[in-house]
Amino acid sequence: MTMGRSEVEALICEAVEELLEALDVELDDALSAETMLVEDAEFSSIDFVQLIVSIEEKLGRKVGFQDMLMQDGNYVDDLSIRQVVDFTVNRLNNPQAAERAPAAPPPVKVPVASDDLAHKITEADIADFVALIKPRRILPVDHSLAKNKRAVFILSPPRSGSTLLRVMIAGNPALFAPPELHLLSYATMQERRADLSSDEGEQLLDGAVRALMQTRGCSAEHARALIADCEAKNMGTQEFFGILQEKLGDRLLVEKTPTYAFSVDILRQAEEYFEDPLYIHLLRHPCGMIRSYEESNLTRMMPLMMKSSEFSTAAVAEMIWLLSNRNILEFSQDVPQERWFTVSYENIVSGPEAEMRRLCAFLGVPYHEDMVNPYSDNKARMTDGVDSASKMSGDLKFHLHSQIDRAAATRWQQFCSEGMLGESTKTLVDRLDSEVARIRV
Ligand code: A3P
Repeated sequence: MTMGRSEVEALICEAVEELLEALDVELDDALSAETMLVEDAEFSSIDFVQLIVSIEEKLGRKVGFQDMLMQDGNYVDDLSIRQVVDFTVNRLNNPQAAERAPAAPPPVKVPVASDDLAHKITEADIADFVALIKPRRILPVDHSLAKNKRAVFILSPPRSGSTLLRVMIAGNPALFAPPELHLLSYATMQERRADLSSDEGEQLLDGAVRALMQTRGCSAEHARALIADCEAKNMGTQEFFGILQEKLGDRLLVEKTPTYAFSVDILRQAEEYFEDPLYIHLLRHPCGMIRSYEESNLTRMMPLMMKSSEFSTAAVAEMIWLLSNRNILEFSQDVPQERWFTVSYENIVSGPEAEMRRLCAFLGVPYHEDMVNPYSDNKARMTDGVDSASKMSGDLKFHLHSQIDRAAATRWQQFCSEGMLGESTKTLVDRLDSEVARIRV
């Protein structure tokens, strides 16, 4: 496909405008080639990712934008639209350069975690933090309902590489791993809709839509109508899980919604809903998770999960890491060992095949080589989003990589050190790293 410079500029301006509208940002001056994306358009690092995913989607090809964001080993502070256009035109004329480009993630202008973690997290902070989390209404179990057939849950705090793991799992034809479903946290489909019907929440409703489209081979419109029908009947979320499972044949449903780990009560619902469910505890070093959280758009999503607080972003991330892992470990005490599996992001990116073979043995399914090629067949893996990939629920940064990138596991070391962590966090790191799975690299 050949495109002139003016066409490329129009396409990029369109992508920026769409994003500004979604972010509700109004520019002081009209959008032009000289518009600076951080200074004028107030872009954060994740907005850059979203822009890049959206441009690549409009172009229908990968451009290798990581080279534009990283110059001389450092991330750029700001970019004008003209610079983005120049880079894109250059890459379209030299496609080999994009193929040669190593995979590397983005960020731009993110506060250094050391500033934010000057105050080390204490148990008192954690107690305050727990009180901020919005409670969920867990209905007493309806024993008249038979349990659903077995499902598998990936349990982790957010920003632990759960999207990558889900997409790898989705490469195995014996498994069905859709984007985040956000079901277990709610008793009924109506509650779920009420809680997630907001600008931030809307995207989280899409995982179930995408999953239905896949299981039924239907359009987004049809899937949305089906869900609306379930909501109108005020169907319980257990029954809705059943609707997804009924079209799977022998395939196992594998669900990853990181916020389930915010509460042990939510985790326990899995045991109530399903027959002998299996669990995958996904670990990541807290410094990697904190750094990733700071660069993500999760801060915007947080009002859905908790009340606002004075804690810094890094402190919130550290407490989410600690609390989620504690909840998962507490819950593991109630689950027989043979239904529990632990894996770390660090081990997955450094030895993907060995880890996927180990995982398949646990799940009782044959290993499939597509599991280690997560960028093949985006439709079957449901990484295309419902309306567009740039709105996919889960980790948008997945689209910035083009292979499993082992360097991503140590990138945090340029910005943070374990010395910034609170004592409780460090104690848990010691325990997990020595007894459970390697997270120190
Ligand atoms: P970073 O922000 O540190 O890069 P989650 O899906 O649980 O939100 O996790 C997001 C993390 O997974 C991000 O970490 C992201 O870059 C990383 N990730 C996504 N795709 C990856 C890939 N192909 N290789 C390595 N890491 C990947």
